[in-house]
Amino acid sequence: MSGPGRNDPCWCGSGRKYKKCHLSSDDAGTTQPTFGRASSASKANAHLILDAAARDKMRAACSFNAELMDFIRPYVQPGVQTEKLDQLVHEYTLDHGHTPATLGYHGFPKSCCTSINHVVCHGIPGAQVLEDGDIVNVDLTTIVDGWFGDQSETVLVGTVAPETRKLVTETMECMYKGIDAIVPGGRIIDIGRAIQSHAHASGYSVVRDYQGHGIGRSFHQDPGVPHFPDYEMGQFIVEPGMCFTIEPMINLGTYRTALDPKDGWTVRTADGKLSAQFEHTILMTESGPEILTLTTNGPQRGFRF
Ligand code: MF3
Ligand code: CO
Ligand code: CO
Repeated sequence: MSGPGRNDPCWCGSGRKYKKCHLSSDDAGTTQPTFGRASSASKANAHLILDAAARDKMRAACSFNAELMDFIRPYVQPGVQTEKLDQLVHEYTLDHGHTPATLGYHGFPKSCCTSINHVVCHGIPGAQVLEDGDIVNVDLTTIVDGWFGDQSETVLVGTVAPETRKLVTETMECMYKGIDAIVPGGRIIDIGRAIQSHAHASGYSVVRDYQGHGIGRSFHQDPGVPHFPDYEMGQFIVEPGMCFTIEPMINLGTYRTALDPKDGWTVRTADGKLSAQFEHTILMTESGPEILTLTTNGPQRGFRF
């Protein structure tokens, strides 16, 4: 495979010329992968490969998580407090014998994340009331019989401006572009390439500080799944039996983020402009990616908000 020319844009998506960016490190070999080469991937990452029984466990966990999403979505309306949504999520999960994964996770205080408007992710449900015209990402993660399901949707609150709806539409499309880009034996970088090129086509930016992740009997595990073409992480090879999330956060303005210094969780866009996100949990099978968190009543692939 031949690389980019010296004056071409760098493959990493930085937007800089190749000669100003990764040319020297590529030549020196310093960005060469340290793991995930075809010959060694199976051995090195064998612990991430699920057998038939484990795949069914993940299917069950994710199917409950999707049911929970279908349950909570109708409550996302103008006038509702986000802590009311959290309470409903918490009770539904317990009533079905399962465990909300975020509650107490590294000290996170609630059973879901609600990220409104310019909040990128990890918004803490609280007294804030949803207002007509808001967008809110509801991110749900459940532990079912020891296995984790994780997904999120950005939901429109009442009547939302057309340019905001476009951001939401293209963010969901970014997620599906990422899902469609990955094949058994392919590399993680294919996901970020597809997502970033779709986002940039609309003039949007891709958050780099937070990424998708391997998932299974733990919430966050290898591989990291950057939503931009990160060369180093991107060399990881996705093999049948691996589970991971794809959860692009797409911004109207800068990709830069700012963590709330007071609560230590809420992540906002650095410029205060809007951000949207969608997330699915994916199982790579021998014949391609299987989306485990598909909902019955939610927006389906190709939907325009
Ligand atoms: N559900 C989020 C994810 O997609 C993680 C939330 S962790 C929390 O990975 F602690 F902020 F809740
Ligand atoms: Co996730
Ligand atoms: Co999530």
